[in-house]
Amino acid sequence: MHEKAATMFALDGRVAIVTGGAQGIGRGIAENLALTGAAVVIADVARAESVACETAIIAAGGAAKAIGCDMADEDSINDLVAATIDAYGQLDIVVNNAAIYPMSPIGEMSTDLWDRVLGINLRGVFLLTRAAMPHLKKSGRNGRLINVSSIDTWKSYVGMGHYDASKGGIEAFTRSCALELAVDGVTANVIAPGAAKTPGSLTVRGNLARERGDANTDAVDAEFATRIPLGDWASADDIGQATVLLATPAAHYITGQTIYVDGGLKLTL
Ligand SMILES: NC(=O)c1ccc[n+]([C@@H]2O[C@H](COP(=O)([O-])OP(=O)(O)OC[C@H]3O[C@@H](n4cnc5c(N)ncnc54)[C@H](O)[C@@H]3O)[C@@H](O)[C@H]2O)c1
Repeated sequence: MHEKAATMFALDGRVAIVTGGAQGIGRGIAENLALTGAAVVIADVARAESVACETAIIAAGGAAKAIGCDMADEDSINDLVAATIDAYGQLDIVVNNAAIYPMSPIGEMSTDLWDRVLGINLRGVFLLTRAAMPHLKKSGRNGRLINVSSIDTWKSYVGMGHYDASKGGIEAFTRSCALELAVDGVTANVIAPGAAKTPGSLTVRGNLARERGDANTDAVDAEFATRIPLGDWASADDIGQATVLLATPAAHYITGQTIYVDGGLKLTL
């Protein structure tokens, strides 16, 4: 009985790609997938941080491989999938986590910036999903597509029009994927993080602090934490562990869902 429970929550023998896995939430996802037994491909443009993540996972007894990938570039994405199959012979789990969020009010937003954000955050998700699909289908009931959106799809913020459009698009796209993949037993779900302190969110937090006329980001961060029902910002591990849950055999009947991992923040918005 205990053995069965352990198997339901284990990922031994699975191979996962995590885009943007070099730092922040992506690193939390990569490390927790590896802790649960999966071999993890860290797919990122940040070479040094990717190698640091690979080294940390291997030092902790896990399996990982850093493979450079630019989610803005179709060839790079196709090469990522080919290199993963070359290295491991299979691909069971894809986590589309990489995203950028440079703030800009819509009235001042250049077309180039819109295209860049949508290109990485949404077009890249489509391209990797399409390239990975035959392998996920081969994986059948072990196949998992997990796309990362944001609490922004519930509540918008000024300066995030392009980002919010990309994240809303991810949720609708993932529901389509869930329908298309269901026939093969593959599931597709969305993880929507609340607020997490990451290298990427540091800039946004700094901007928000300045907007409020408070240069002290720490004080603004601490005040924000009091508004989260569970009392603190999300850690990368919090998001990583929720992602693991969706990746495990125990979650094989959950598909087409958006799971908010936000400490209850959505309840207050
Ligand atoms: N931090 C938060 O509070 C928060 C809240 C909601 C949703 N999210 C989502 O979580 C995910 C991770 O966010 P984060 O805060 O950890 O970001 P981050 O900026 O700290 O890390 C993003 C990672 O993606 C990589 N990346 C950027 N452009 C890439 C590209 N073109 N190709 C490949 N990799 C690329 C970066 O090198 C980096 O390693 C994103 O999808 C973001 O939208 C974050």
